[in-house]
Amino acid sequence: MAIELVPLPLPASADASKLADFGREVKGVNPADVSPELFKEIEQALYKHGALLFRNANVSPAQQYALTKAFDPQSKSYGHGNNKTGETKKSILHPDLKTIPSVPQVQLIGNGTVYNHEGLAEAKLKHPSHTTFHKTRVSPEDEEKGVTRFYRWHIDAALYDLNPPKVTTLYGLSVPQGPGQLCRYDDGTGDELEVPLGTTAFVSGKVMFDILPKELKSLAVRSKVKYAPHPYVWMAPAHAMSTALGIESEGLEMPLEELPPWEESKIKVLPVLWKNPATGDLHFQVHPCGAMELLVDPLPEGANREGALYPDGEHITDLKEVRELLYKMQRPGIAPSLVYPHDWQENDFVLFHNRGLLHTVVGAFKPDQVRAFHQCNLAASDEPAGPTHEDVKAYA
Ligand SMILES: [Fe+2]
Repeated sequence: MAIELVPLPLPASADASKLADFGREVKGVNPADVSPELFKEIEQALYKHGALLFRNANVSPAQQYALTKAFDPQSKSYGHGNNKTGETKKSILHPDLKTIPSVPQVQLIGNGTVYNHEGLAEAKLKHPSHTTFHKTRVSPEDEEKGVTRFYRWHIDAALYDLNPPKVTTLYGLSVPQGPGQLCRYDDGTGDELEVPLGTTAFVSGKVMFDILPKELKSLAVRSKVKYAPHPYVWMAPAHAMSTALGIESEGLEMPLEELPPWEESKIKVLPVLWKNPATGDLHFQVHPCGAMELLVDPLPEGANREGALYPDGEHITDLKEVRELLYKMQRPGIAPSLVYPHDWQENDFVLFHNRGLLHTVVGAFKPDQVRAFHQCNLAASDEPAGPTHEDVKAYA
């Protein structure tokens, strides 16, 4: 049985030609109960389209965990680890997550207070807001008028010790409805995007790579990112840029010697481009906030050196330079026309390829707007594959 795939409705702001392959609604399939044959089709569709939507789903935490795990049967623990130890208390992610007691790999996220939920008597949830993370903020007057920002463009990943999850599932149980908001980039470009209230915004890592000029493709295909140890603790004192695509270089990161104990061997060094397991496409997959250093390989033999950046390779340790290079490569990929802002309906179940796109929370809720989502992703059993020798030859 072939599954029925329908393109997701794109907003008027979207460049339909660039997003033609991105996202599909899966019709007539219950994500709570997927046979092995059906799973293979879903897996291929997911890697091809980046995000799959199942409407009117009814999925228990155990079923959500089972479907998420099917993508990586050897994975076990939540993407950031299951155990909340003392050292993660200082992490900027700590307040956003409440674990479901019976299935600790599934997290309750959202806004407002939720009662008697899956064994949690009372859970106080807070929708993350740019006002506590960005260096600057939308003025309270503009916020009142519905102006907002992206919160933090990211990949779901611990980026230390654990491998980036292959997929994430997001299940919208309570979805407050309200007027849309205007997401402003506030970076001097005038870029802005009309978004549904509380949207999750997605951009394709494949498109982010495809639109780069030749010299930046060459840099990307030759580069690896070294992430900071305990990156979410490291970045906690720092402030993000107004586009939510990385951290302002103000020297505020926690000094490495003040971080919880860490080991060099657990630091993640990951390629900038991750190879899609189904299509072979290259996706620009960098979590800019956690990036600390850039390791650039020299051009391969016989490559044209004209206009090439770092033709002889470079280990870039200057944090500002690292961030500026990454920003130059990633900012084009979050242009308003390339963003898919999902318009959440109650009981939407979204499955996304965490190794093929970037996403972010957007917008702000009032305290009485109760939003409850179940989220699951699992630290992967392997590291993402980078470009092959042929890829390097083709793009360097
Ligand atoms: Fe996320």
